[in-house]
Amino acid sequence: MKVISTEKSQVLAARIAGALNTTIVDVKFSRFPDGELYLAAGELDDETVIVGSVTDSDALVQLLLMIDACEGSRNHLVLPYMGYARQDKRFKNGEPISARAIARLFRNGVEDCITVNIHEPEVLKYFGVQTTNISLGKDVGAYIKSMDLNDPLILSPDDGALAFAENVASVGGWDCDHLEKTRLSGVEVKMAPKKLCAASRSVVIVDDIISTGGTIATAAGMLYKQGATNVYATCVHGVLIGGAYVHLKANGIRDVFCSDTIERGCSRFSAANCIAAALRG
Ligand code: R5P
Repeated sequence: MKVISTEKSQVLAARIAGALNTTIVDVKFSRFPDGELYLAAGELDDETVIVGSVTDSDALVQLLLMIDACEGSRNHLVLPYMGYARQDKRFKNGEPISARAIARLFRNGVEDCITVNIHEPEVLKYFGVQTTNISLGKDVGAYIKSMDLNDPLILSPDDGALAFAENVASVGGWDCDHLEKTRLSGVEVKMAPKKLCAASRSVVIVDDIISTGGTIATAAGMLYKQGATNVYATCVHGVLIGGAYVHLKANGIRDVFCSDTIERGCSRFSAANCIAAALRG
């Protein structure tokens, strides 16, 4: 078995290869003069782990080309971050179910697929090959533990993400709650933990994705007003668009960290061991 990756997932793929005690395939990436993507894979094996986060349209095309290049091998697809997964239903007439459209692209050329903290697990039914979704909750928890915070309060930004936050909190036996939004007026909204009090505590807000950082930046300001000592933000997938990292830091978040499903300067823990364990079955 060998591991191969698209450009956006090189570091994670090398870590997965290390965890599996196998080698990574050298790949040349370039573009044709008209801008079309090109790649040429080095020597393949008869069994291949293809790693590629769908972070944008080019990454998606590169992944499709990679799957095609690996024809003839038994391929296991790893989608560390699956872009388009948040449009998981038709919210308005005329919209696509984007997650379905993307999942259907992976029906050919791979035997099975692994996703990581996919935004909506319902999407798995669209893949058409055996797909397993793994969670990095314990890895997020292990990183928080290494920070040695004094009795942190783990918060999810909403009740939908509470189960993930509880999984994170179980690592240290920490308190856990979710933020609740209360509309005070037409323009004023209050966000506070539903049951617990943030005063004099270190708070870690955990989510599957930080995109613009808007939700967490607003929540942090309110938590500081409620007396929180320090607010930290973490997620699995650091999408971090539009200057989100700086936005969070400028709004008083002490530290922002994520996994390497999207490779970032603030990727502090790796999905590699969890993915390797799922591949071993
Ligand atoms: C949404 O459903 C996700 O779980 C995240 O809560 C969301 O993507 C965060 O968005 P933002 O960082 O833009 O507030």
